Amino acid sequence: MLQLDKVRKVFPAAPEPYVALDGVDLEVADGEILCLLGPSGCGKSTLLNVLAGFERPSAGSVSCRGAPVRGAGRDRVMFFQDAGSALFPWLNVEENVRFGLRVRKVPKAQWAGIIDNYLRMVDLDRHRNKFPAQLSGGMRQRLQIARALAVEPAVLLMDEPFAALDALTRRRMHAVLLEIWQRTGKTIVFVTHDIAEAITLGDRIGIMSAGPCSIISKIIDLDLPRPRDLADPAVARLFNDIERLLAPDIARAEERAAH
Ligand SMILES: Nc1ncnc2c1ncn2[C@@H]1O[C@H](COP(=O)(O)OP(=O)(O)O)[C@@H](O)[C@H]1O
Ligand SMILES: [Mg+2]
Repeated sequence: MLQLDKVRKVFPAAPEPYVALDGVDLEVADGEILCLLGPSGCGKSTLLNVLAGFERPSAGSVSCRGAPVRGAGRDRVMFFQDAGSALFPWLNVEENVRFGLRVRKVPKAQWAGIIDNYLRMVDLDRHRNKFPAQLSGGMRQRLQIARALAVEPAVLLMDEPFAALDALTRRRMHAVLLEIWQRTGKTIVFVTHDIAEAITLGDRIGIMSAGPCSIISKIIDLDLPRPRDLADPAVARLFNDIERLLAPDIARAEERAAH
């Protein structure tokens, strides 16, 4: 579904340009959940922005279904941590979903059916006349999911979407997302710095090294049935392995942030 080949991303900076990504290779299969895990500042958002087409790579290539990515496209939607700024506060739940359909030029005759379907999927159909400010954090993220799915993209790009939610709501969102994924078969690239979250969701985990010059240093196949319980010895062992693998890069990221 997605392919990155030797992707490099350099940002202008003083005293010298900052090389955020330096030769990222990645393939994401149709229908899989790939989690990108790495320390803060390692370039996860940059990589996701490149996949979305919001940022052009400085070198290397990005393609979606074999076609080069040259900008944002209807086949890929980005999903943000801050639902508050992603949603329109002056539109109610139903209108927020409808807005996306209008922008993406979905034929009007299909709007009502699509809106009903996705609001029901995220359990917001009873709240369709409420405004974002009247919703809880979890409900706002569910609305963002409904709006993203309504335009029927092939790929969901999620940038630490649940990081600001409390632990219980986050667990509920994981269950909601997995259920939707099972029903729709979307391809999901999910960025997180939380090992437990990556293990809960991923078919595979791509580990990113600390910047500058980040790469995907390792891909881990999660051959474990869902739901995954961290108390399960096999899952706990995996958690420890990943923690050990990340430790030097987290230390390196901290050091850099302290300067
Ligand atoms: N537009 C930009 N201009 C300059 N530097 C940037 C820009 N965007 C990101 N960076 C730098 O690139 C690095 C990676 O950032 P980011 O992708 O946001 O990391 P992450 O999402 O993993 O925390 C950081 O050091 C950040 O300061
Ligand atoms: Mg980020």
